[in-house]
Amino acid sequence: MRILIINGPNLNLLGTREPDLYGSQSFEDFLKELKSKYTSHDIGYFQSNIEGELISAVQQAKQNYDGIILNAAAYSHTSIGIADAVTAIELSVVEVHISNIYKRENFRHFTYLSSRCVGTISGLGLKGYALALEFLLSSK
Ligand code: DQA
Repeated sequence: MRILIINGPNLNLLGTREPDLYGSQSFEDFLKELKSKYTSHDIGYFQSNIEGELISAVQQAKQNYDGIILNAAAYSHTSIGIADAVTAIELSVVEVHISNIYKRENFRHFTYLSSRCVGTISGLGLKGYALALEFLLSSK
């Protein structure tokens, strides 16, 4: 299967950004490990700090991928545009948050994406991406 991981703003800083919350591994290192475990699947990766680029990545995924793992980071809590793109493409999208957004500030408790995604994983660290991948691979 072909699965696209999309990461939103500030997730390019994983490894050095608030390691107590997000851990000390860079996403690139994690991705290398993940890809080496799933060599028979095509795992794509896109990161952007720009909302419109994330919307375009979600839209374009329809042509090349069977599912999406989406951590829209701060835009999860603000972006109707990304949420509408998720609804428009009719691909299975799993929402992931590295930290437990329900243990954090109130403004992080709501996401525009949760109701548009097949499910949400929050608070399990980078393992959340691996679990989301397992789910998508087993659901087709
Ligand atoms: C996050 C949680 C968001 O609230 C935050 O803005 C992020 C990362 C997470 O992965 O835990 O940037 O999506």
